[in-house]
Amino acid sequence: MENIIEVRGLVKSYKKLKAVDNLDLDVKKGKILGLLGPNGSGKSTTINCMLALLSKDSGSIKIYGKEMTPESYDIKEKIGVVFQDVGVYDELSVYENIDYFCGLYIKDKKKRKELIDETIDLVGLNDFLKFKPKELSGGLLRRLNIACGIAHKPEIIIFDEPTVAVDPQSRNNILEGIKKLNEKGATVIYTSHYMDEVEELCDDIVIIDRGKVIAKGTSESLKDLIEVNEKVSFASEIINEDVIEKIRAIDSLIGIEKKDEFYHLSFTHGKDNLIKLINILNENSINYDSLSSESPSLNDVFLSLTGKELRD
Ligand SMILES: Nc1ncnc2c1ncn2[C@@H]1O[C@H](COP(=O)(O)OP(=O)(O)OP(=O)(O)O)[C@@H](O)[C@H]1O
Ligand SMILES: [Mg+2]
Repeated sequence: MENIIEVRGLVKSYKKLKAVDNLDLDVKKGKILGLLGPNGSGKSTTINCMLALLSKDSGSIKIYGKEMTPESYDIKEKIGVVFQDVGVYDELSVYENIDYFCGLYIKDKKKRKELIDETIDLVGLNDFLKFKPKELSGGLLRRLNIACGIAHKPEIIIFDEPTVAVDPQSRNNILEGIKKLNEKGATVIYTSHYMDEVEELCDDIVIIDRGKVIAKGTSESLKDLIEVNEKVSFASEIINEDVIEKIRAIDSLIGIEKKDEFYHLSFTHGKDNLIKLINILNENSINYDSLSSESPSLNDVFLSLTGKELRD
């Protein structure tokens, strides 16, 4: 499949800090690439280097096969960016802001109006067209920021943490909007430290930590990297050691730990892990509550690769 963007060996330091450290990235045409990493892992720095807004120390960034430079206006025209920090004009209304940013690319008034109306529908700002940015809630302001970045229908759209500090309704609106843009043909780069969003949205995922790629693949292939296949937890009083030994004897059990009132168990691929556990608990008259079983998450992948949690 065709790579629209190829980043090779990207290095960017701020004084002594290597914020991006020999990073490679491939973005395939028509796909959504997720750049997942904790705060300070180098996501925004990577994006800003890709856009040639920041000068890199070394490495290569090719977009549509051409090396990206600050003067690559032909390439920049094809890219829409929604920056992490909201950047709109306070003195312009919602409509005027979108019109201004779209107008940087689209000069034809009729065409521009069509694009703006389509974008307003997509982000759900119809009821707020005359509002000034300061009159909008955090979530609505984010939607305006997105509208300004995408109205000109760019082929590539970069979203840098567009859902930070937004209410659940706006969050869903934003994620659904990105899916629609992608269905209409846009190639998307999506940075986030929310693994559930990345998992829901992205075809390919690159996990970064301290400026380095630590794993890449689809959500499924990343989860195959780790030993844990099923996580089970239940609440119970302290269970005595001979029963714990029986639980430990389940073939596919990897570990068992007690945290507050809960026992947490992890299993490799195995048949009937849950049933085996329930049988042991019942046979030994253990009272338990809130039993649940879940698949590993990208957080478990991150934890297993780095020894720390991805979550805030
Ligand atoms: N202008 C700057 N000057 C000095 N250090 C910087 C600058 N910008 C970022 N950094 C540092 O570089 C590292 C990477 O920062 P960056 O903003 O790229 O991370 P991020 O993954 O986008 O984080 P977040 O999730 O918080 O947005 C961090 O340690 C940060 O403190
Ligand atoms: Mg950032």
